[in-house]
Amino acid sequence: MKKMLIMGPPGAGKGTQAEKIIEYYGIPHISTGDMFRAAISNKTEVGLIAKKYIDAGNLVPDEVTVGIVKERLSNPDCKNGFLLDGFPRDLKQAEMFSDMLKELDIKLDLVLNIHVDSEKLINRIIGRRICPNCGRTYHITYNKPLKEGICDECGSTLIQRKDDNVETVKNRLDVYAQKTEPLINYYKDLVYNVDGDRDVDVIFNDIKKVIGD
Ligand code: AP5
Ligand code: MG
Ligand code: ZN
Repeated sequence: MKKMLIMGPPGAGKGTQAEKIIEYYGIPHISTGDMFRAAISNKTEVGLIAKKYIDAGNLVPDEVTVGIVKERLSNPDCKNGFLLDGFPRDLKQAEMFSDMLKELDIKLDLVLNIHVDSEKLINRIIGRRICPNCGRTYHITYNKPLKEGICDECGSTLIQRKDDNVETVKNRLDVYAQKTEPLINYYKDLVYNVDGDRDVDVIFNDIKKVIGD
């Protein structure tokens, strides 16, 4: 199975598509954002450092981020493919990631790049709700749970991410445009562009075609 990155601005649907991809292909989803949020809720050392950056919508320092990715990719379950979401996020991380791949003898196969116009992203992010227990993502309009405010999967009460407010979102979009978007060119030979402004399942079918069986 392929070794892949999923890229795109905040709210593009990386996490939403990742849930489907990992279930269908049985590969690990490595989301640096999810790992940081878990660290914050468990009050670990990494969590304590990461919190103030995430709450402001800024990038967590590389010393922390690169270490957790390397540790995770060294795990044997990544041997048969993985989907990395939210890393690398700037050119420096991309270069450190290339070194890491060489060291771990891993070849990257595909970079999925989800595009959604920026004016639609704020709406998606402000209406997002997540399950604090199983991590599933919902939207109050576009992707409703069966029962309002309750996770379909595990029955927990849904919450809003602390960085999903108008102020922080604007900064996250700026950070993306300045630092992360240039990576699409860095990975141009591996990039597959996905129109993210379609139905979730239509997008997933498109992605399945490029990943293959
Ligand atoms: P991270 O968790 O990676 O957040 P992000 O990049 O801002 O992306 P999001 O998770 O907000 O969006 P998504 O694309 O996953 O969208 P989703 O599928 O949920 O990072 C958070 C923070 O952690 C960063 O700001 C930074 O501080 C830190 N961090 C993480 N990685 C780092 C790194 N490498 N270096 C340094 N710091 C790092 O969808 C959004 C909403 O839209 C949902 O409600 C969903 O239901 C809905 N939706 C999805 N698809 C559709 C569709 N097709 N149609 C309609 N609605 C849809
Ligand atoms: Mg996400
Ligand atoms: Zn749940």
